[in-house]
Amino acid sequence: MWKRKVVHGWCSAMIVAGMLCSAETIRKEKREVDIWKDDEGENQVEGLAVNLSNGDSVIDINRMPRVLNFFPVPFVEECRARDGRRRGICMNTYECRIQGGNSHGFCALGFGVCCIFTATCNQQVINNLTYFANPDYPDFTTGMSTCQLSIRKVSQDVSQIRLDFIHFNLGQPNRNTGECEQDIFYMTAPTSTRELKICGMNSGQHVYFDVENLEYDIEINMTLGRKAVTRFWEVLVTQIPFTERAPVGCLQYHQGSTGIVQTMNFADNGRHLADQDYNICIRQELDMCSIIYEPCHENAFRIAPNTEDEDENDEEDSEADTNVEEGSGTDDTEETMRALDLCNDKIVLPCDSEDLVMPEMLGMTPSTCSLTHCGSTLCPSGNSPCRIESSITPFTIGVHFGHSVKETSPEENLGMCLTYEQMPCVT
Ligand SMILES: *[C@@H]1O[C@H](CO)[C@@H](O)[C@H](O)[C@H]1NC(C)=O
Ligand SMILES: *[C@@H]1O[C@H](CO)[C@@H](O)[C@H](O)[C@H]1NC(C)=O
Ligand SMILES: *[C@@H]1O[C@H](CO)[C@@H](O)[C@H](O)[C@H]1NC(C)=O
Repeated sequence: MWKRKVVHGWCSAMIVAGMLCSAETIRKEKREVDIWKDDEGENQVEGLAVNLSNGDSVIDINRMPRVLNFFPVPFVEECRARDGRRRGICMNTYECRIQGGNSHGFCALGFGVCCIFTATCNQQVINNLTYFANPDYPDFTTGMSTCQLSIRKVSQDVSQIRLDFIHFNLGQPNRNTGECEQDIFYMTAPTSTRELKICGMNSGQHVYFDVENLEYDIEINMTLGRKAVTRFWEVLVTQIPFTERAPVGCLQYHQGSTGIVQTMNFADNGRHLADQDYNICIRQELDMCSIIYEPCHENAFRIAPNTEDEDENDEEDSEADTNVEEGSGTDDTEETMRALDLCNDKIVLPCDSEDLVMPEMLGMTPSTCSLTHCGSTLCPSGNSPCRIESSITPFTIGVHFGHSVKETSPEENLGMCLTYEQMPCVT
């Protein structure tokens, strides 16, 4: 009656109506990544058969592949590629191919395919959820000098572009200044002042790029100048509609009550980048009222303060004003000005206001709460373990790394890695 045809790697060809072939049931593929090709090539749909003997209405797809190919998928939804790793959009085979995607397994009870979109250098992104990877992905690419990508908004409603750097391995910045000089990942848009400039190792990081009211394509321009570097990247480009956007002013927006935040190029033999001025925001989760930050490990906070000759300047106060404008513009107390003066490159952690009242004078532990942080320890007095709690919302960390004017040791400028944990409200 019904046909059975086994397709390697897929749910054993037999789907009882009403049961989705979930990622868990999918046998792990030998190929870890196969991003450029359809799983089964042209005949991918072939082989999905359904058990008829239990009386449910089912389709023998072997007999009607063409019908299925055009069958509209009743709802738009995200799906997972059959390897369970990449995210795609569930649509019918025909639509997927027309839009330039590749099908990677079935979705919507077999009525659709999980359509994965990919792009590489000198191409244009025209679909939501598109993976931008180096040309030789999943292998390293060497000997390349430029790479450009443009991103077209899928609709007027798109308010932000989110980039997830699943893999991001470019050449390092200048070791002594932190400037991205030879390898540069540069994102911008015509008529926009927004820009992003990074390099080095940024796997696991993400950014939001505001594209509200932008008419033109967003451009990613990569300059790959460093010699003898093996580069490797895979960046998921998601188009965020207005209703799902991250708060204004947040380059990064972390969700979840625990997590890790780090500065760009926080890596072994890395160093923090120059010319970075942004906020890392953390969504306040339900029933959570405060947040505790701790360095990820002993060496997870290294942001060299100004060097001695600058510190010894007697006119510290007069200099402070010029430095302050760099800050997030939230608390311009005298205290912060003094701290800012010491830290040319700095991390700003809002802290509870009561602690701002000159703790030293009240005989408390010195500086239990200091807005700006630099040096080789996050906690001002070097307390161990170092934990900083804040109930100032929204939960935000300012990263302000200036233009490097003088050379400083990379070891003293690794940057910052913090774990955070939100704490429930006490009633
Ligand atoms: C098909 O469904 C019937 C009834 O649910 C079941 O007994 C039978 O084992 C199924 N056949 C296969 C091959 O799964
Ligand atoms: C992209 O980079 C190339 C090479 O560095 C440069 O010639 C070109 O003008 C850049 N394009 C944009 C849009 O910035
Ligand atoms: C793009 O995909 C994401 C993830 O599925 C989704 O949340 C978002 O709404 C989509 N964007 C648009 C413009 O549909």
